[in-house]
Amino acid sequence: MSRLDSLMARGAEFLGTRYAILGGAMSWVSERNLVAAISNAGGFGVIACGAMNPELLDTEIAETKKRTDKPFGVNLITMHPQLNELIEVCGRHKVGHIVLAGGLPPSGAIDRIKATGAKLIAFAPALSLAKKLIRSGADAIVIEGMEAGGHIGPVSTSVLAQEILPHVAGDIPVFVAGGIGRGEAIAAYLEMGASGVQLGTRFVCATESIAHENFKKAFIRASARDAVPSIQIDPRLPVIPVRALKNKETERFAAKQREIAEQLDGKALEMAEAQLQIEHYWAGALRRAVIDGDVETGSVMAGQSVGMVKSEQPTAEIIAELVAEAEAALERRS
Ligand SMILES: Cc1cc2nc3c(=O)[nH]c(=O)nc-3n(C[C@H](O)[C@H](O)[C@H](O)COP(=O)(O)O)c2cc1C
Repeated sequence: MSRLDSLMARGAEFLGTRYAILGGAMSWVSERNLVAAISNAGGFGVIACGAMNPELLDTEIAETKKRTDKPFGVNLITMHPQLNELIEVCGRHKVGHIVLAGGLPPSGAIDRIKATGAKLIAFAPALSLAKKLIRSGADAIVIEGMEAGGHIGPVSTSVLAQEILPHVAGDIPVFVAGGIGRGEAIAAYLEMGASGVQLGTRFVCATESIAHENFKKAFIRASARDAVPSIQIDPRLPVIPVRALKNKETERFAAKQREIAEQLDGKALEMAEAQLQIEHYWAGALRRAVIDGDVETGSVMAGQSVGMVKSEQPTAEIIAELVAEAEAALERRS
């Protein structure tokens, strides 16, 4: 067994894969084709349910199963109004792993997930929350730093890894996400106690990814400093920052926030509904960019590792490259 295999053994066993590398769910991007490609290449693909309704999720899981017989997971967003029905769909398909994203799960959701027989992977943005999630029944956690693409927390991956890994990696598998573009970083987090890693940005330009050609070109052209977090313009309206490539969408989002803040002032809107509207805004803006190729006014969500995306490549090649880099890094240290 290579050093990399032994460092990944626990994560790979938990996921049922060759490598403890998750393809982080990316709304509109992580659908049947990319998910199956990642799982077929020895990683762990995760369907992004995003704003899908239960019927669409049902179809997506069935179509993914036609493309791979390897394990894959489903990512559900805690604030989805039909969360329970979505869990039920996963249960019917005997999905092995459910990843819960978007804040602490509502009461009952964890029990419902566990009752389907699925393993629960949850996002932990701080040590106290990691411990709480473990007590509540999470089987593994993902810690994701602010270098990542999409919705982000305030703390960097390297700090989260130091804060959380020494305290919980002995209890359950922990997967590190955010800013990983090469295998050397994978090796480093594994050595720090991680059971595996999760990458999103690096998989966007996979040949099997259905992301529009314009979306992929924008990734290939961009450097790390182009992937910036969205700005909160009204302190009363708590918006979770989103990291995306700089473009005209930035102004649209400011206007959207102003419009929602006015509705909140006029009591035309409750806070929970306001936050849901913001999430719908993002789903629409991301769709415009990923599917329609409108990379000017759509949201080109990307992590800082976008600077390391240099070309369109088959998924298997991306994974092989990451694995080779990690192995070489470990070799140099032995
Ligand atoms: C375009 C895009 C869309 C994303 N959509 C989601 C999502 O719907 N749900 C989610 O939990 N994470 C989402 N993410 C985060 C990824 O799952 C993953 O955790 C992240 O990309 C890892 O960091 P990296 O981009 O630095 O590799 C998204 C990321 C990107 C780049």
